[in-house]
Amino acid sequence: MRTLTGIQPSGKLHWGNYFGAMRSMFDRQNTDDLFMFIANFHAMTTVRDGTTLRDATRDVALDYLACGLDPAKSLIYRQSDVPEVQELAWYLSCLTPMGLLERCHSYKDKLARGLDATHGLFAYPVLMAADILIMQADLVPVGRDQKQHLEVTRDLAQKFNNAYGEVFRLPDAYIPERVATIPGLDGQKMSKSYHNTIELFEDVKSIKKKVMSIVTDSKGLEEPKEPEGNSIYELYKLFATPEEAAEMADSFRKGGYGYGHAKKALLEAYHRLFDPFRAKREELAKDPATLEDILREGGRRAREAAAPTMEKVRKAVGL
Ligand code: ADP
Ligand code: TRP
Repeated sequence: MRTLTGIQPSGKLHWGNYFGAMRSMFDRQNTDDLFMFIANFHAMTTVRDGTTLRDATRDVALDYLACGLDPAKSLIYRQSDVPEVQELAWYLSCLTPMGLLERCHSYKDKLARGLDATHGLFAYPVLMAADILIMQADLVPVGRDQKQHLEVTRDLAQKFNNAYGEVFRLPDAYIPERVATIPGLDGQKMSKSYHNTIELFEDVKSIKKKVMSIVTDSKGLEEPKEPEGNSIYELYKLFATPEEAAEMADSFRKGGYGYGHAKKALLEAYHRLFDPFRAKREELAKDPATLEDILREGGRRAREAAAPTMEKVRKAVGL
């Protein structure tokens, strides 16, 4: 099964990204043919500075590799290293009804948030369809906000197949329904838009400060507390073993266990998981040439995977 997903390099990755999206991708590495790419073309709809985009692209690659993406098992590549996606996007554009894009919520939402109404932003779903179809992906894990873009992708694949003959496989979206929403510092969903995130690799002191600032109720140390729904406990569960989580829940219910204790346990659990990742990231960051090789090699293999499809496509459209 070919599983493909893309992530925009448009902000530092945080705990919500790791537990909500990244970890389940790493789990699939042994079973699926996994394609993971950094959507740097897409990020240009919002990032308008070359150095920022280049640095953010490198950061996402480092984060994924440090946290467990294994380039021996899976492909990691930059979207821009497969320039044929732009070519395919054009062929698809010529079959894309304006109305289909006009109905996309994500476009309307982005305008409402103040982004410029550019052609790139409008045509974004067509490029996304090209990313997916060019690799003949079976399954595309995405957040709920991307569901409509997958419907557009299937629609465009069908339009192409109807017009030119069967070329594209229709991919399925995989939207993990039950991925818990990971709470941020203020108890709302952790999201870069809410400025309530803890980044995967931010400065250790800053992480400590943020963990200590997670909002709680004002129950005193001695009072028994309900752990379920409490942000610290919810976050701790992500890092801890089931036994450790049960132990914390017990302590909360018994009383005599304060939020300060729980925050300390959370911080320790974060370090236990992330210190090795951080060391790996530092090592990778010291050697930009190796990182570049990994990305280039991923791009080369991805291009190779796309080549037979592009050959069919060009022949079908009359080139
Ligand atoms: P943000 O909300 O910070 O902009 P994105 O929308 O770029 O994050 O999310 C990228 C991926 O990470 C998506 O697949 C999304 O489902 C997952 N994700 C982000 N935040 C959370 C969260 N708080 N809880 C669960 N999953 C999350
Ligand atoms: N649009 C996706 C997002 O903002 C990123 C993306 C671009 C993508 N191309 C893709 C995701 C192809 C999956 C498949 O999150």
